[in-house]
Amino acid sequence: EGELCRWEGALATVYSPVYLNTPQGDQQVVLGSTPLLDAKAALSALDAAVQAYDNGQGFWPTRSVAERIQHVEAFLGRMREQRDTVVKLLMWEIGKNLKDSEKEFDRTCDYILDTIQALKELDRRSSRFELEQGTLGQIRRVPLGVVLCMGPYNYPLNETFTTLIPALIMGNTVIFKPAKFGVLLIRPLLEAFRDSFPAGVINIIYGDGRETVSPLMSSGKIDVFAFIGTNKVASDLKKLHPRPHRLRAVLGLDAKNPGIVLPEVDLDNAVNEAITGALSFNGQRCTALKILFVHESIADSFLEKFNQKLAALKPGMPWDTGVALTPLPELGKPDYLQSLVSDALAKGARITNPGGGEVRESFFYPAVLYPVTPEMRLYQEEQFGPLIPVVPYRDLHTVINYVRESDYGQQLSLFGTNPQQIGLLVDAFANQVGRININTQCQRGPDSFPFNGRKNSAEGTLSVHDALRVFSIRTLVATKFQADNKQ
Ligand code: G3H
Repeated sequence: EGELCRWEGALATVYSPVYLNTPQGDQQVVLGSTPLLDAKAALSALDAAVQAYDNGQGFWPTRSVAERIQHVEAFLGRMREQRDTVVKLLMWEIGKNLKDSEKEFDRTCDYILDTIQALKELDRRSSRFELEQGTLGQIRRVPLGVVLCMGPYNYPLNETFTTLIPALIMGNTVIFKPAKFGVLLIRPLLEAFRDSFPAGVINIIYGDGRETVSPLMSSGKIDVFAFIGTNKVASDLKKLHPRPHRLRAVLGLDAKNPGIVLPEVDLDNAVNEAITGALSFNGQRCTALKILFVHESIADSFLEKFNQKLAALKPGMPWDTGVALTPLPELGKPDYLQSLVSDALAKGARITNPGGGEVRESFFYPAVLYPVTPEMRLYQEEQFGPLIPVVPYRDLHTVINYVRESDYGQQLSLFGTNPQQIGLLVDAFANQVGRININTQCQRGPDSFPFNGRKNSAEGTLSVHDALRVFSIRTLVATKFQADNKQ
């Protein structure tokens, strides 16, 4: 890697955060090391990206769509060869179970293929001439410049690549900063990047975000900021840009997605969806269900079924067969979750499932908290982990007000069998969130559907089709045209 990156500076050791019952006992396993770039190195990556963008005719932004597609196809072929290694690293670096790690890899490859297909269609439709009122117009879709891509640790491959690949294929040059966990899994792809794209088109920087990313933003040379993570980091970084009006931001941010269980409901379906919605990858998904509102008339039976299902989820190491609950990669996360639990218990909630909230090393056993009330931190705060706050409600206005007053607006789920009631709530919530799920959990896919959010949850819309537009702009070439014009 030293040779590939020509990096001779400091290296950081990468430990696996997954260390429950490893053969080494409770010791953390060293997975490898990663370069620790400083500000100077990050700025030289920026220079390379700027130069590759400005190199003029024949260089990346001016290559034909067909040529750019060829480069991405070449990369995809090489990436597929690394499936086993990347899947293994997903398990060791972020603790994602085998099934979901394989799914993340395959979904990312599908996304790249779909992006290629979507670009071919977009190009066919947009490379047309139009004659309007004596003016001949040709609309060209062109790139925007240098894109900074930063993704989250929970989908270090998929979420980053859903901005990185459309940015590249539309002719932008890219600086890519891997997530804080899931750093090493980019390493098996470095050679594929190097061999598939011209020099300077994709630049990968490692190291502390404050040290490396801040100078990039302060330089004013970043044209698009594609970031999936917290509001705080996004707004701190955006503020550094000296010309914010010239910065396009594509952001996926915090969420507190509610699941609303109505009194008339298929309870088994609601419980099944709520379990996977709240606990897939231990609740570490921006799209997870993060609070459940259950009508008081069915709260007891909902909790009983929910806790039965929860008890059947197998805890263990990510690579073991059938494991659903795995260790958490973030140091200090169990302490943070425990502080939310203590706060809720002190204010009158109880843990309703046996063993809920127990901690062993980096493993936190899910806790169902009930009854959760507005005074508790868990009512508003995004836990991003295996806590399930359950709020009993009598009047639908409690739920409607919650959604309207929330700072977030990514998604919500409605569970019910009364079409009038569902219709009423869909109307009430349609301008509050980016997606309303009926009798199903919140989620991002299918990836051809728009993925966005209102309020503090997002900026811009991503999907296979939308991303191509987000990372490009239309330029009109207009020519005065006359019937007797011989030119
Ligand atoms: O963390 C946010 C991810 O985009 C979630 O995607 O709903 O497919 O798990 P997902």
